[in-house]
Amino acid sequence: FKTPAVENEPMRSYSPGSAERNALEAALVQMEQELPFEVPIIVNGKPVKTGKVAKQPIPQDHARHLCTYHEADPATVSAAIEGALAAKSSWESMPWPDRAAIFLKAADLVSGKYRYKLMAATMLGQGKNAWQAEIDAAAELADFFRFGVKFVEDLYAQQPVKNSKGAWNRVEYRALEGFVLAVSPFNFTAIGGNLPGAPALVGNVVVWKPSPAATYSNYLVYQILQEAGVPPGVIQFVPGPPPEVVAQAIEHPLFAALHFTGSTFIFKKLWKDIASNIDNYRSYPRIVGETGGKNFHVVHESAEVNNAVFQTVRGAFEYQGQKCSALSRLYVSSSVWNNGFKDKLLQEVAKIKVGPCQDFTNFMGPVIGRPAFDKITGYIQKAKDAGAEVLVGGSGDDSKGYFIQPTVLLSKDPKMVTFVEEIFGPVLSVYVFEDKDYEQTLELIDATTQYGLTGAIFASDRSALVLGTNKLRNAAGNVYYNEKCTGAVVGQQPFGGGRASGTNDKAGSISIFYRFVSARSIKENF
Ligand code: ALA
Repeated sequence: FKTPAVENEPMRSYSPGSAERNALEAALVQMEQELPFEVPIIVNGKPVKTGKVAKQPIPQDHARHLCTYHEADPATVSAAIEGALAAKSSWESMPWPDRAAIFLKAADLVSGKYRYKLMAATMLGQGKNAWQAEIDAAAELADFFRFGVKFVEDLYAQQPVKNSKGAWNRVEYRALEGFVLAVSPFNFTAIGGNLPGAPALVGNVVVWKPSPAATYSNYLVYQILQEAGVPPGVIQFVPGPPPEVVAQAIEHPLFAALHFTGSTFIFKKLWKDIASNIDNYRSYPRIVGETGGKNFHVVHESAEVNNAVFQTVRGAFEYQGQKCSALSRLYVSSSVWNNGFKDKLLQEVAKIKVGPCQDFTNFMGPVIGRPAFDKITGYIQKAKDAGAEVLVGGSGDDSKGYFIQPTVLLSKDPKMVTFVEEIFGPVLSVYVFEDKDYEQTLELIDATTQYGLTGAIFASDRSALVLGTNKLRNAAGNVYYNEKCTGAVVGQQPFGGGRASGTNDKAGSISIFYRFVSARSIKENF
């Protein structure tokens, strides 16, 4: 038995008048007519309504909300955990081709029947434009499920290379003993699917707490998994107040793993909480997290200017800088900066249109919510107070939605706060270095932040690429040459970073699956 060959989901163009454009526009109109939706908790395949509800606002129009959702109380969290544990034995003993088929079907539902609905939910609820929703909710999510099946098949095929005479050695990849807690972020619907999906694919049961700011799209993902055949109880959909749901799950003796994407601060806190419970667990929990970044582009004097500018604009401002991989600090050699880069950058940024997702000419939408708006505009103010020059942008308008203009800050102080701290918004800080100081600048990039997620080097001189790669050895888990530091593709660039950016277990590759299995060696004498 071999699963079908996998391909990345092809991107659609959404050009005016195209069939996909019409279908997506129709899905948006329909969703606008039907909202707000009511989202229950799902335990053992059944809706649970606690009556304690919260709202997911629409970031581009915050007077309205996309859904109300029921928040889990302690009794519901408890029922979710016990129900998951009860579902475990039949799920992990289900033959692998059947588990694989469920996820292959889920991928087809994502890229086919539910494509535009999922995209519309991601656009309205999480503030993406059509193309950002396409690469996330349509393509990456389908890729996670499809490629996941291939990766797990490859994992199961990893077997001892030697058998002694009269004996057979084999390795069995068991699901973890207990349940996995998945805590997913707002910024990618695909990550919402992958955090519970990857552990479930290898036979684990999962309690999934989605982000409050992505509840509706994540609920649709849950429904797709259910329609594809994930049995009741295997993935429990448990929105709720983050500290309570997560704390309760972590206290359980059969807590087996955390699969997390979110802030460094929360991840470290959870790690400490897990450590303080260590005597209560049956097994050492696996802790897998992807946690933010302060990603860089460095532009060498030999770089091709137009490409470097184009990639910089996309890296910094697509999805309003709210990808964990987003570019937020730019180091440019002075000869490049003064010979076209600066002018072209400012021209291109000035062209960016910011506004609601129904207008397909908007390159940027709103940031996710009130706290994000205040935090981002607060950082712009801090940079100004620290003497930075605002080259373009610098303001926001929260009267209807949480809109912030793409902002470029120039500073002579490379340790100024916006070079150091994660902002998670459309703010790019620029430092111009003397051409002769390239090597020193690489050292500066390495030493400036606690993070190590993504980075890009722009140079046509290959020795500059090599020097950069060597000097920045631990500064990024994903490095790009002459291309922006965002947009890792499942199966092509395994994604993740080290330092304070995460455990670098590489989503979109075989590596992540090793973390959610417990191997057992069996030697049989004949
Ligand atoms: N995987 C996403 C990217 O690389 C976060 O942009």
